[in-house]
Amino acid sequence: MSEKSPYQEKANDSKAHVVWHESNVSKADRAKVKGQKPKCIWLTGLSGSGKSTLANALEVALTEKGNHTYLLDGDNVRHGLNKNLGMSDEDRTENIRRVSEVAKLMVDAGLIVVTAFISPFRADRDAARALFDDGEFVEVFVDAPLEECEKRDPKGLYQKARQGIIKEFTGIDSPYEAPSKPELVVNTAENDIEACVKQLIAAIV
Ligand SMILES: Nc1ncnc2c1ncn2[C@@H]1O[C@H](COP(=O)(O)OP(=O)(O)OP(=O)(O)O)[C@@H](O)[C@H]1O
Ligand SMILES: [Mg+2]
Repeated sequence: MSEKSPYQEKANDSKAHVVWHESNVSKADRAKVKGQKPKCIWLTGLSGSGKSTLANALEVALTEKGNHTYLLDGDNVRHGLNKNLGMSDEDRTENIRRVSEVAKLMVDAGLIVVTAFISPFRADRDAARALFDDGEFVEVFVDAPLEECEKRDPKGLYQKARQGIIKEFTGIDSPYEAPSKPELVVNTAENDIEACVKQLIAAIV
């Protein structure tokens, strides 16, 4: 990765003139109106491990319980906010930086945010964690062996990566750094979706 990213350089240029303006309504005020504890449930894992599947099921379960949620999904965010980013290490880092800032804003708004990003680099996930207050960031390792993910291949991406049609694919020719101390590990190769969602719900409340 290069020393200075173009994103960082632009940010440094404008910093001197930017002053934080305190809000009159606090995160605690917003959370009180919603009657919940804002959190960021950060799902990380290989492509096909089950992040989007579990994030959706979790959001349904939380919504049914009366919680106010939002799901930030990797593919969806790359359609809009992050459509100018590719899959280089630098762009992956910027992808996660932007998304973690968005998640922080949403937690500040009082929401329970569920994120579904491969987020392959430990340093990027640690940087995301550092944005949140203690207990707000719940890192979940959605764990399934590469062979299992490749067998599932729900989007046909592994096949394309093996054929060389897709480059820099996590697990094939781009690394995945598994979390060393996640709050939760859900093993999607050994447990069905329902059991995994139960585990997630139990970890949130
Ligand atoms: N316990 C489980 N939890 C989640 N998904 C499971 C489980 N068991 C089997 N699956 C299947 O595995 C696939 C996971 O695909 P999904 O799109 O959720 O992966 P993903 O991690 O979001 O991948 P990507 O990073 O490419 O977006 C689905 O087809 C799902 O039905
Ligand atoms: Mg997904």
